[in-house]
Amino acid sequence: MSDLVLATRHNRTGVLTINNPPVNALSPGVPEGIAQGIEAFSADPAIDAIVLIGGGRTFIAGADIREFSKITASGNRGRGPGLNPILDRIESCPKPVVAAIHGTALGGGLETAMACHYRVAVSTAQLGQPEVKLGLIPGAGGTQRLPRLAGVEKALAMCVSGDPISATDALQAGILDEILPGDLLSGALAFAERIAHNPPRPTRGRNEKLPTPAEAAPLFAAARASARTRQRNLIAPLAAIDAIEAAVSLPFDQGLQREAELFQHCLFSDQSKALIHVFFGEREVAKIPDIPKNTPVCEIRRAAVVGAGTMGAGIAMVFANAGIPVLLKESDATALGRGLAAITRNYESSVKKGRLSQAAADERLERIQPTLTYDGFADADIVVEAVFEGMALKRDVFAELNTVCRPSTILASNTSTLDIDEIASVTSRPEMVVGTHFFSPANVMRLLEIVRAERTSKETIATCMALARRLGKIAVLAGNCRGFIGNRMFGPYRREAQFLVEEGATPEAVDSALYDFGMAMGPLATGDLAGLDVGWRIRKEFGDLTDTSVRQPRIEDRLCELGRYGQKTGAGWFLYGPDRKPTHDPETDRIVADTRAALGLAPRSISPEEIVDRTILALVNVGARLLEEGIALRSVDIDIVYVTGYGFPAWRGGPMHYADSLGLPRVLARIREFERLHGALWAPAPLLTRLAAANSTFSA
Ligand code: 3HC
Ligand code: NAI
Repeated sequence: MSDLVLATRHNRTGVLTINNPPVNALSPGVPEGIAQGIEAFSADPAIDAIVLIGGGRTFIAGADIREFSKITASGNRGRGPGLNPILDRIESCPKPVVAAIHGTALGGGLETAMACHYRVAVSTAQLGQPEVKLGLIPGAGGTQRLPRLAGVEKALAMCVSGDPISATDALQAGILDEILPGDLLSGALAFAERIAHNPPRPTRGRNEKLPTPAEAAPLFAAARASARTRQRNLIAPLAAIDAIEAAVSLPFDQGLQREAELFQHCLFSDQSKALIHVFFGEREVAKIPDIPKNTPVCEIRRAAVVGAGTMGAGIAMVFANAGIPVLLKESDATALGRGLAAITRNYESSVKKGRLSQAAADERLERIQPTLTYDGFADADIVVEAVFEGMALKRDVFAELNTVCRPSTILASNTSTLDIDEIASVTSRPEMVVGTHFFSPANVMRLLEIVRAERTSKETIATCMALARRLGKIAVLAGNCRGFIGNRMFGPYRREAQFLVEEGATPEAVDSALYDFGMAMGPLATGDLAGLDVGWRIRKEFGDLTDTSVRQPRIEDRLCELGRYGQKTGAGWFLYGPDRKPTHDPETDRIVADTRAALGLAPRSISPEEIVDRTILALVNVGARLLEEGIALRSVDIDIVYVTGYGFPAWRGGPMHYADSLGLPRVLARIREFERLHGALWAPAPLLTRLAAANSTFSA
């Protein structure tokens, strides 16, 4: 038997322990090892029952996701995870098989557990069918066994959302037989002894929870309607619903067959490739080539935030939510009161929505200590500055922080555009100065750009990366340039959106083309949400850096001059009522028409394809420059920034993955066409030109 599955005996119970760290994925050898163990114990007269358990930190986290790209690369559509024959052997074992679950039983892990005859777990275990998050559906009987154990409604909820459920929930749903207190293995052995002589209980035969097709029809209709709106453009949720429907309408084996066909369809889709790219990308960004894993990190026990505005208040909540006490400093009592009121409202709303208990909210609020002075800053291990965006003010704040904080305190700036080197230059500890660029709302958005300045030390970066994980953020390391990765790319993206309006598209046409492409929001409505005045002020601050020889967008400056800052003033590109939904504004038409006339531009008809190419390929072209300049470490870092911070559809994998999937020669040809039509702003990045000539990809 393989080392991946260890067989031991405990009196008359055989125990199979999976030993494939870190997450006991069903890599080649693991399923075979389980099957061999089952066969051996079945044939052993000294064994009455079998326990399947995970070694290390978890049960089985699913199929080995790395194997999927091998299958799709082989082009062999007949190949799947191939687990069904093995699960069949578990299920048809004449002796009872008990899955003993701790950590997570996910995907193929839960499917394996459901092929066992009984399932017990510790109270902290989590169970789920997360395949949909990878653009897949359960491919080893999950869509057939789960409705048999838990009913159609629960199976739909789990397979369509992909979200795991708690052990308590799983017990209530009928997926688990018992939650065991104390040591899992001892409890599972006692359980196995108790049921050792019960008749076999194969899940495939447990049809009592299956409704008739007619009874289930409304559930499937509702699930489809919800998936179409809430999981817009995604094929896997609908495929999962189809597969669960087969559990109701077909016998078990035919249902499995239907599931396999749907699984194959999803596996070979571009969506699944993109989502798997994002899954590994989110983990890859944590790895920084010149900062080894064993780089020492400082322990963050206390934090402080300067500025309790939109960002500072959110950042203080992020620390408090992670259990880290935080000082929140403002310059005056009114602003501090405003910040605290925003925080309190936010927690109250979470309690009202049932996302947080009152006690947990109170505890978090207590961790945030408001202040108007720097008293207590000497105890902070990290300070995040989030005052107004202006270099003079930031320099003053950092000079002061440098004197009030211990020399070992990390001083971080939340600036979105300013030079971290210049900020660091006013301190005596530039190696401890770093950018921590949170996204708004800071307590919600997953992205955190960590900005490495010239002298930022490896320890400071390693500490911030580790802290980000603790804060529940996905951290991406960026080099120090105006706008770092995300905003540096966002500028040209929004610039093109505005040019398209100047040239003849309506604001609605621009936004809906990009929404239909999959963006969470159109670029113009995004501007209205963030506040058009933010960019306007930055343009004024950096006016001396603006290249006047190239075309500049005009309409947003005009909107701002008229006091139309977006949602906060009730009008920007669009008009906003109390429901904050953008609606058409004839006043915008007038402003647009006047601007076109002033620029001498005759409006032309512009297709949705051109809108998408002009904006998304602008992202790609700047992304290529960021790679060349070393601002972004890898193309996947850019993808993760866009997917986690800018509403880029994960199912397209991020802008660089999207360009790779189009083919770089095609991307370059389109960019050259735009260069001919629109001039120097579209000069292709040299890296793109080189990769396209070699017919290579950014990820290669
Ligand atoms: N296959 C291959 N590698 C996996 C994996 C999997 N299923 N799950 C995790 N890993 C790898 C990660 O890439 C990471 O590798 P790295 O250290 O080289 O970066 C390592 O294991 C540890 O993972 P995390 O950093 O994510 O560890 P956490 O403790 O934070 O999270 C987890 C653990 C909750 C299990 C999380 O890794 C996870 O959600 N994994 C994916 C689970 C999943 O989607 N399962 C379904 C797979 S598809 C399937 O089963 C199809 C079936 O129906 C046939
Ligand atoms: P804001 O205007 O909402 O808040 C700034 C706060 O700083 C104000 O409450 C002000 O009273 C306070 N302040 C000013 N000087 C201070 C001092 N010396 N000590 C203590 N408090 C002081 O600004 P916002 O939007 O929160 O931005 C803060 C920083 O975060 C800026 O650098 C901005 O560029 C950046 N940022 C903003 C994002 C956004 O979407 N708003 C997103 C990411 C970064």
